[in-house]
Amino acid sequence: MRTLPLHADFGVEVLDINLATVTTNGAYPAIRELFERHSLLLFRAQSLTDDDLLRVARLFGPIEDRQDTPDGSFIVPKISNRQAHNKLGPASDAQLLNLKANMLWHTDSTFLPIPALLNIITARVLPSSGGQTELVSTRAAWKRLPADLKARVADAVLWHRFAHSRSKIDPTLATHELFTRWDDQAWRALWRNPVTGEDALYLASHAYGVDGMSEQEGQELIEVLFDFATQPERIYAHAWDVGDVLIWDERATLHRGTPWPYEEERTLASLCVSVTDSDGLPAMKPATTQGVLAS
Ligand SMILES: [Fe+2]
Repeated sequence: MRTLPLHADFGVEVLDINLATVTTNGAYPAIRELFERHSLLLFRAQSLTDDDLLRVARLFGPIEDRQDTPDGSFIVPKISNRQAHNKLGPASDAQLLNLKANMLWHTDSTFLPIPALLNIITARVLPSSGGQTELVSTRAAWKRLPADLKARVADAVLWHRFAHSRSKIDPTLATHELFTRWDDQAWRALWRNPVTGEDALYLASHAYGVDGMSEQEGQELIEVLFDFATQPERIYAHAWDVGDVLIWDERATLHRGTPWPYEEERTLASLCVSVTDSDGLPAMKPATTQGVLAS
């Protein structure tokens, strides 16, 4: 499979592939290998329907479903500023909050009892400018981290809460049930990829503390790690074309959206696939925790 590098730290563009025709016994094993090695894959000029996107995502694992529809149906989620009746702009305060919070560096779904393995995302409608998606490799960040910081992080456990990232944008809206329905989750700060054996920092905007540290000490450490991992030269900024598909490894990257002129539509179709035990989940669960200590 021919590839081109996207950034010195991570990511490849995969050439000559029509994702709509990929099967378990066909190109999937080679694509999966690239995913494990490079953490970020770009496929250009695809025209995947929602059903195609679901089918490709299912090759990697179970689809993350947070929709609780009464009949169990599933609609491929859209990241968009288009509302019903063709109006542009956020439909609700919660949607506006989500659009803004999406611009904080994050990993998807670290606040869920079963977090995400990957995000697969394709551009359907794009504005005339802006709206790039930026990513960094937390595997590269871990490799480069100074020894004193490595020693502090190697056995650390981070606590994650959806409302924490939302509260950075609007503390009142963050109390909505949408953001408080899950118990806080504790994950080790390093995710070892079982295929390559490489470690990556497992960070997110949802991380509110470090187990066994005071709230303030933990947040300071989390901030230091974010600053280190997201230095400008470490960023791959994807300028979307309609039909592009990105697949990123949630275990080894951070990402964020960037603004665009909101009077113009931007619509991406986006799915997360959940991790399974073979993706390294059991090793991410700490044996015991103390919680975040009072300052
Ligand atoms: Fe995201």
